Amino acid sequence: MIIKLTEHFKEIFKQDDNIESFFSPGRVNLIGEHTDYNGGFVFPCALDFGTYAIVRQREDKNFRMYSENFEDLGIIEFNLDNLVYDKKDDWANYPKGVIKTFLDKGFKVPNGFDVLFFGNIPNGAGLSSSASIEVLTAVILKSLFNLDIDMVEMVKYCQIAENKFIGVNSGIMDQFAVGMGKKDNAILLDCNTLNFTYVPVKLKDMSIVIANTNKKRGLADSKYNERRSSCEEAVAVLNKNGVNIKYLGELTVEEFNKVKHFIKDEEQLKRATHAVTENERAKVAVEFLKKDDIKTFGELMNKSHISLRDDYEVTGLELDSLVEAAWEEVGTVGARMTGAGFGGCTVSIVKNSEVDNFIKNVGKKYKEKTGLEASFYIANIGDGARKL
Ligand code: GLA
Repeated sequence: MIIKLTEHFKEIFKQDDNIESFFSPGRVNLIGEHTDYNGGFVFPCALDFGTYAIVRQREDKNFRMYSENFEDLGIIEFNLDNLVYDKKDDWANYPKGVIKTFLDKGFKVPNGFDVLFFGNIPNGAGLSSSASIEVLTAVILKSLFNLDIDMVEMVKYCQIAENKFIGVNSGIMDQFAVGMGKKDNAILLDCNTLNFTYVPVKLKDMSIVIANTNKKRGLADSKYNERRSSCEEAVAVLNKNGVNIKYLGELTVEEFNKVKHFIKDEEQLKRATHAVTENERAKVAVEFLKKDDIKTFGELMNKSHISLRDDYEVTGLELDSLVEAAWEEVGTVGARMTGAGFGGCTVSIVKNSEVDNFIKNVGKKYKEKTGLEASFYIANIGDGARKL
């Protein structure tokens, strides 16, 4: 793969020395959805597929970027002195936003680079293709310019780039999982404190199966921001009534039940209910996984989906059809949507002996219901972003 990409780099940029290569994974979240920006727990893992970069430092201040995933757009060029969001630069705004954030934070980026990207994560499918290219850019900057910065700090910068430069108010889960991922482990991350622990995922005779709805996500970003605002409004209402919290994630379900009557708006109440119950589910689920009780972990995944469907309302026909079809399979231990929702992917734990039937039957039922063809991936848990 790297050899092929390097050959392509040479062809595109007409350069053939001092070439370096980097990789950054995608991520799948096992449980704890829409909890990160609510100061709660998430439980994602890095995948063994993601984004590759072939890079060569330049002597001037120009950046030239090319993506094999968007060949029609050709080489996108910009300059260190003009790092502003530009719609026509399309996907290249992600790396550009990261470079800009590093400069804003006072890091010295003396010159530009040429880079060829190739991603084997489906774009915009809820597996963090954007966080993957962001963290990849950060790792490239650190390596090329010997920057004194650790991964958690880089993860934070990438989130700033996503929030401020791209304009999506996402939490920190994706960048964290992509940057800090560890082979065969998921990360239990407290998004309020950024304390985290690695938890081995030992599924024995089972696999993680990701299914992509292949639905274009449309207005997902604005709906995402709306959900986030609802939760913040719920916090404000609770605080006006004497509850003293910064995030919904600070409340246990029991504590929430005592004060939830203050939230009069029905929709706001549903959003807050999801945020609080999902946070608790994530914590409980991880305890079961640690005890090798995958069955209960799977049941909690199912409950997570129901809460995302009924209270948070971020699923829709496609995700629900895929998950409901998964639930009907004998080999399924648990299934839910993963990521922001409104399309994108589901994640299921499936008995190895049933994976083929799962893919066949779920794919068929999904097509019958939606007219769309789902794609399936067996996910292996890999390491975080790195120089190759
Ligand atoms: C997107 C965001 C994350 C997180 C998830 C939902 O992936 O980028 O920060 O909020 O949605 O859990």
